[in-house]
Amino acid sequence: MPPSLVILTGAGISAESGLRTFRAADGLWEDHRVEDVATPEAFARNPALVYRFYNERRRSLGAVRPNPAHLALAELERAWAGEFLLVTQNVDDLHERAGSRNPLHMHGELLKARCLACRAVSDWTEDLDDRSPCPACTHGRLRPHIVWFGEMPLEMERIYRTLERCDLFVAIGTSGHVYPAAGFVEAVGPRARTLELNLEPSRVADAFQEHRVGRATELVPAFVAELCRS
Ligand code: OAD
Repeated sequence: MPPSLVILTGAGISAESGLRTFRAADGLWEDHRVEDVATPEAFARNPALVYRFYNERRRSLGAVRPNPAHLALAELERAWAGEFLLVTQNVDDLHERAGSRNPLHMHGELLKARCLACRAVSDWTEDLDDRSPCPACTHGRLRPHIVWFGEMPLEMERIYRTLERCDLFVAIGTSGHVYPAAGFVEAVGPRARTLELNLEPSRVADAFQEHRVGRATELVPAFVAELCRS
């Protein structure tokens, strides 16, 4: 059987494209309290603020492009003979724009909206507010298709099943602060090789067998070239 590979990405892979991470000194959570913009309670209390926060994030996608790290992962997917699962915590679309076929967005997507009435998930590229009509049922109110704190990330069963049988698990550009993603390294099977690529050791770095410290645009293309040669 050709080897099975799971890759987890976080905000660090998009940082050099110009998108802010969450926990840096200039990160998104420095300007906004999580409990004001990223919980179901915040949306119930002040929907206008939550819509505005994600409208700004969505607009910022227009000004950025995939970087060499995103492009290298898309190239790896094309070259990889075995099972390949790219799981991202990112809600941007830079993996897709780089050519990744089917990244699993476990924390949702900025370019989608979800209907609170019929639950349909629709593509959404414009600003969103409480008057935006659901394209599916035409009357329901829409919310950002984002997994907020206190909500269950998407497709967890599929992710854990694939982690259990994978041969290689690589985490890129994630601080290890947020579970369940921070615990994926503990969910791999006993034979899996585990590797972290990050600007600094993450909070769960000790759980990885190997580490490479540096910028994603340098580390990821070099690692992909190595894998493709072996
Ligand atoms: P964080 O902002 O917590 O962490 C980003 C990580 O990327 C840090 O460890 C940085 O050191 C690293 N980093 C920064 N620039 C880098 C670069 N150029 N190359 C490589 N690494 C770099 O972001 P996440 O771990 O993705 O969830 O955050 C996880 C979740 O917390 C997010 O999905 C979001 C947030 O709250 C929700 O909103 C549900």
